[in-house]
Amino acid sequence: MRIVVIGASGPTGRQLTGQALAAGHHVTAVSRRPRGLPRHDDLTVVAADATDPAAIEPAVAGADAVLSALGVTPSRKPVTTYSAAATAVVTAMRRHGVRRLMVVSSSVLDPAWRPSNAFFFNHVLDPYVNRVLVRQVHQDMRRMEEVIRASDLDWTVVRPSGLFEHPTVTDHLVADGSADGVFTARADLAAAMLRELDERRFPRRAMGVATTAVKPGLVQLVRDEVLRSPR
Ligand SMILES: NC(=O)c1ccc[n+]([C@@H]2O[C@H](COP(=O)([O-])OP(=O)(O)OC[C@H]3O[C@@H](n4cnc5c(N)ncnc54)[C@H](OP(=O)(O)O)[C@@H]3O)[C@@H](O)[C@H]2O)c1
Repeated sequence: MRIVVIGASGPTGRQLTGQALAAGHHVTAVSRRPRGLPRHDDLTVVAADATDPAAIEPAVAGADAVLSALGVTPSRKPVTTYSAAATAVVTAMRRHGVRRLMVVSSSVLDPAWRPSNAFFFNHVLDPYVNRVLVRQVHQDMRRMEEVIRASDLDWTVVRPSGLFEHPTVTDHLVADGSADGVFTARADLAAAMLRELDERRFPRRAMGVATTAVKPGLVQLVRDEVLRSPR
């Protein structure tokens, strides 16, 4: 397949790109500042802002599927990147007859998401971090989901829980709407997205993904997710 990965130099984008190349796909990697991507005969790198329709059209033309893992650094300022990129990508895909779209959103977008055996998360971290500190991001993700749902494309919205780094694909759940789990390894998120391209279990629906085999430690989470260099 010819797969476009948007946000390809981010940590989930790199997983998507690497796993897709390993599976024998051709990847067009889109990012504003391409970096950290492997050299590969089946990899085309395009420097483009995904919110700019004219810039991403050449990347999307001729693709079989577009997978988006772009993201912004959470802040209290209004966020528009997710919805603007969704609008530009949907427009470019419709113009070029590309039908299959998968975008990374968040479990937080499912109002029924309440992971089991996670009292501290459900009563302290989720209400404060997700609903207050990262509220602007989730508001724009909601607009992104609305743009995608309103399109006539063959879409799947992908909702991971708290992302963390793990070197390999492990056991994970996929579920309608959101998955029962606090954490999702990026390797598992990418694997679930690539499998969904083949299996088409969640057409025009949201697919939750949660890792069941491993959990990040607190030190790892702070080092990799809170203290990591700016995107
Ligand atoms: N952190 C969590 O716990 C969590 C939980 C659920 C969902 N999510 C969501 O999961 C997604 C992936 O997260 P992640 O941590 O792997 O990646 P990320 O660090 O949030 O960002 C991925 C990449 O998006 C690219 N990007 C940003 N704006 C762009 C634009 N206008 N055009 C093209 N590329 C753009 C950036 O690369 P360039 O600067 O090179 O363009 C960045 O490296 C994000 O949407 C995130 O919000 C995160």
